[in-house]
Amino acid sequence: MILKNFIVLEGIDGAGTSTQLNLLKNRLSPEKTVYTAEPTTLSTGRFLRSVLRGDEKLTPETTAFLFAADRQEHVYGTGGIVESCTSGKLVISDRYVFSSLAYQSITCGEELPRKLNQDFPLPEYLFFFRITPQASLKRIEKRDVTEIYEKKDFLEATARQYEKIISYYETLQTGMHIIRLDATESIEKLSEKIWTVLQEMPILQG
Ligand code: TYD
Repeated sequence: MILKNFIVLEGIDGAGTSTQLNLLKNRLSPEKTVYTAEPTTLSTGRFLRSVLRGDEKLTPETTAFLFAADRQEHVYGTGGIVESCTSGKLVISDRYVFSSLAYQSITCGEELPRKLNQDFPLPEYLFFFRITPQASLKRIEKRDVTEIYEKKDFLEATARQYEKIISYYETLQTGMHIIRLDATESIEKLSEKIWTVLQEMPILQG
């Protein structure tokens, strides 16, 4: 099922999704738009952050369940994505199910993440930020804090898995608009491209 007015940005670490989400804040009306991200700022998301820092050691399967639990609350909880979208707001999320299908498939195989994520609604628009693991690593290395998934081999595997799942969704023809972006283009150029696509949305007309 496609959830109207829902937009997702996806890509490996360092692809620049957060930068683009922030730039959209200058373009869209604050009353009509909700900006969000996964892991969330809810207690489930905060717990996931400690897992990502390596402070909590969990099995890959438990981690996959936790990402799905955090998403369940993000989508269906009070003030969540479904509630906002159906009340006529535009919701833009930095990461969603595609992150679990890419990252957790590497750590615990494809089956569990697929099972845990198959029933979540799909966004109306999915922007996939493509970048080589080498280029993304260069960006990540400039940051102060690194997380457990920000390693070369893991990034390479994740990048391959992302390509695989995005291509799979393209063949499914779900009605979700999939836009592949070259994440190494300039910040301004990328922002223009995203903006041009979003202007097609009925919610942003008139
Ligand atoms: P993110 O907040 O984008 O990274 P940063 O802390 O650098 O801003 O995402 C945190 C990490 O969580 C990222 O490595 C991807 C990972 N992740 C998963 O493994 N599965 C998921 O379902 C989600 C949403 C994120």
